[in-house]
Amino acid sequence: MSFRESARIVISGAGGMVGRELAAQARNQGRDVLALTSSEWDITDAPAAERFVEPGDVVINCAAYTAVDAAESDEERAHAVNAVGPANIAQACARAGAEFIHISTDYVFSGPKGTPFEINDETAPAGVYGRTKLAGEFAVLTAMPDAHIVRTAWIYEGADGSDFVAVMKRLAAGDKTVNVVDDQIGSPTYAADLVGALLEVADGGIREPVLHATNAGEASRFEQAQAVFEAVGADPARVRPVSTDQYPRPAPRPEYSVLSSRLSAEAGLTPLRPWRDALAAAIAKHGPAAAAT
Ligand SMILES: NC(=O)c1ccc[n+]([C@@H]2O[C@H](COP(=O)([O-])OP(=O)(O)OC[C@H]3O[C@@H](n4cnc5c(N)ncnc54)[C@H](OP(=O)(O)O)[C@@H]3O)[C@@H](O)[C@H]2O)c1
Repeated sequence: MSFRESARIVISGAGGMVGRELAAQARNQGRDVLALTSSEWDITDAPAAERFVEPGDVVINCAAYTAVDAAESDEERAHAVNAVGPANIAQACARAGAEFIHISTDYVFSGPKGTPFEINDETAPAGVYGRTKLAGEFAVLTAMPDAHIVRTAWIYEGADGSDFVAVMKRLAAGDKTVNVVDDQIGSPTYAADLVGALLEVADGGIREPVLHATNAGEASRFEQAQAVFEAVGADPARVRPVSTDQYPRPAPRPEYSVLSSRLSAEAGLTPLRPWRDALAAAIAKHGPAAAAT
């Protein structure tokens, strides 16, 4: 184990999808882990960060206000969690001499670009969630210029939770047709693969402050849903394409928000495998959903 691999990994938001996976993988690798849920560490509480962060730690912030629709009518809270909270952690890390990795989102972009977004492309968040996450990026790098921001997208763990793949698995186990939008294009990303990238960044050697980490390739939600149906042995023809304007939601979604891994790879981050391979691995690990009764 190198010096950095033996550093303690401190996780905020450890009760969430990425936080749980990160704590599990890091512990499986024999690392020293302090994993704190929202009830143990509220990141909007500035002095709390000082209590948890120690010199030499690698702090990975998995806490966020992720309810994209609810954020539209709750901007103050979304800003507190997505911008002020990460700044609190960055300040504590800078003071203590700890490393800091913060997770951001493809929603800092909104398209329509049509080719994958590079790290330095102009951001243009379409809604409150993306705006507050972008404010978080600025706040973190202002407080700690050598922090890392890892942007990712369309995360799923594929178990029996509420992520897109889990929902499609449950629908595939039924017998109804399912309408899924085909005009939102993104980068489906397996939480386990993202966590591999986060731990690679944690181990040091990558200088680029902003990185992109998503499974390779791009898909519409419709294509992703069809791929889930196929993977669990259901008929993909039961998934029907519809347009976003048939399903209005409080928050606008980017029509195209694919993240390019090109500059991250040049900076030394191992590119994540193609999204269909990752999906197959997730389904193989967690299995199909139980048939509806
Ligand atoms: N999911 C995606 O598709 C996606 C895509 C791109 C980027 N991301 C980013 O990836 C990161 C991880 O997201 P995720 O998918 O794991 O989200 P998640 O499952 O919603 O987890 C977020 C966690 O943050 C916690 N949290 C909320 N407010 C907090 C606070 N004030 N202090 C401490 N913890 C707080 C939540 O706890 P409670 O449940 O108790 O509130 C929850 O456990 C986030 O930065 C997110 O913006 C996610």
